[in-house]
Parts: sequence; structure tokens; C-alpha cells
Amino acid sequence: MLIIDGKKVSLDLKNELKASVESCQAATGRVPGLTVIIVGHDPASQVYVRNKAKTCKEIGMISSVIEMAADTTEKHLIDTIHKLNNDPAVHGILVQQPLPKLIDEFAVTLAIDPSKDVDGFHPENLGRLVMGHLDKCFVSCTPYGILELLSRYNIETRGKHCVVVGRSNIVGKPMANLMLQKLDATNCTVTICHSATKNIPFYTQQADILIAAIGKAGFITADMVKPGAVVIDVGINRIEDAATKSGYRLVGDVDYEGVSAVASAMTPVPGGVGPMTIAMLLKNTLQSFQRINGL
Ligand code: GUN
Repeated sequence: MLIIDGKKVSLDLKNELKASVESCQAATGRVPGLTVIIVGHDPASQVYVRNKAKTCKEIGMISSVIEMAADTTEKHLIDTIHKLNNDPAVHGILVQQPLPKLIDEFAVTLAIDPSKDVDGFHPENLGRLVMGHLDKCFVSCTPYGILELLSRYNIETRGKHCVVVGRSNIVGKPMANLMLQKLDATNCTVTICHSATKNIPFYTQQADILIAAIGKAGFITADMVKPGAVVIDVGINRIEDAATKSGYRLVGDVDYEGVSAVASAMTPVPGGVGPMTIAMLLKNTLQSFQRINGL
């Protein structure tokens, strides 16, 4: 079985991006800038935001993090976004989710200038993706990272049956729409399963490419997978493990042990899809800089 090594691909990609940032600087005297806003103190979000900022700096981009209190008003958050929309040094704006309950996440997404929406969450970007105008949009980072993995590993996708389990706006919906597009690394027949789907194994057993984005540890078991399938695991679930220093470990939505005996290729957790997400965020930020500067 082939292990699809997202850690290695993300390192290759970061080296490529670093070289592109240097070229941007040589051409314009400036470098791409990403601003991340985090509201409140969710520990997992804090780790993600710290990693995003660190990786930005590693490849020579400017990164700033705006930390806001958990009781920040929606108006203050949106006013801040409007200022960033008009700041020429900011090429990418990302508001870390989840937001506190009193803030309307959709209103916040709508406030971000689509040309700086490097998360690809704005309806203009998602709409362009659905309609196949990928050259003019930002594709959300996790689906985009999965596409990059399939492409770099030369996984045959044309005419294959891709089953996506999960229908979130961040992963499931953009992923399914991406696999449907008429591109080299997509062009699939696509099925989406979700929490109300009756008999999920009936569908997953037919998948040539199975993408699990459910958020439930070990949900996909070997009996649900067709022999020879390519299995992409998007899950990052914390489960208790007294043997580790932190008291927990990370596992995916796929039962790795069992499924690796059936699949032909598979992403591990950690080290699969996760490291690709940040790399694609930086790729989107670079692309924003290039579009804004006509490069
Ligand atoms: N929370 C979990 N994943 C993401 C992501 O990709 N972008 C943002 N903004 N928030 C997230």
C-alpha cells in the first residue's frame, strides 16, 4: 500500500513557495502579507493560528495575528476586516473559525473582500469553484491540498467514482464540487454522504476514491472500503491516550490499521492532509499578491 505523504509534499511545496516569494520581492520590492484574526481562546484554534504565522515567516511572507477578546462584537470584527480590505500591505485575510456563538460567521465571511479571501469561504469564491472558474477564485485550503496530493501522486481520477463523506462548507461541499470539475486531477463521478444518509457503507464500498471528512475517529472501517481504493483521511480527532505526554493523540476518521490492508493508497494522520492545508493557504496568499500586482 502506498502512503500518501502530505508532510513531504508540503515541505516540497513550501520550498517552491519560498523561491516564488523571493522572485516577488525581486520584482516588486515587496512580499505577500497574511493577516489572521482569532477571536477568543479556543486552544485548538490557537495552535492552528500559531502554526500559520510560523510557516508564513519561514517562507518569507509577512504574517500578522490580530487577537480579539471572546466578547468582541460582530461590528468591531467587521470594521477591522474592512480596514484590512483597504490595506495594500495585506494580501490575505483569514478569520479563524469557529467564532463565538453571538457572532454571525456568514456575515463575517461576506465582509471579507473576495480578492483577499485566501480561505475561499466567500460565496463569490465558492460560486466560481462550482461554476468551474478556478483561475479567478480561491479554492478552500483543505480540498485544494487534497487535489495537490492526488495530482503529485499521479492518482488516476478521470471517470472514477469519488465518494465524499461529510458536507461541511469548509471541506465536504467544496471537495465534492472540485472532484466534479473537468480538470486533469478531477473529472470524477461524485457521491456525497452525510449524517442523514441511509446505509453509508453501500456508497463507500463503491468508491474508487474515498474522502472521509466526518469528524468521527475511526468511522471508516475496512469492510466499508473497496479493495484497491484510494483513501483520503481529513479527520483530526483527539482521543485519550495515557501513554502519551499530552494525555491524548490524534487519529483520523479512518481506521488506519484495518483500512491499510484493503486500500491501494492512503493518507496517514498525522502527516497526510493536515500539513497540506497550511501550505495551500500560503499558496493562495502568494496567488493573491501576484494577482494584485499583475505578476
Ligand atoms: N477552522 C478550521 N479549519 C479552518 C480553516 O481552514 N480556516 C479557518 N478560517 N478556520 C478554520
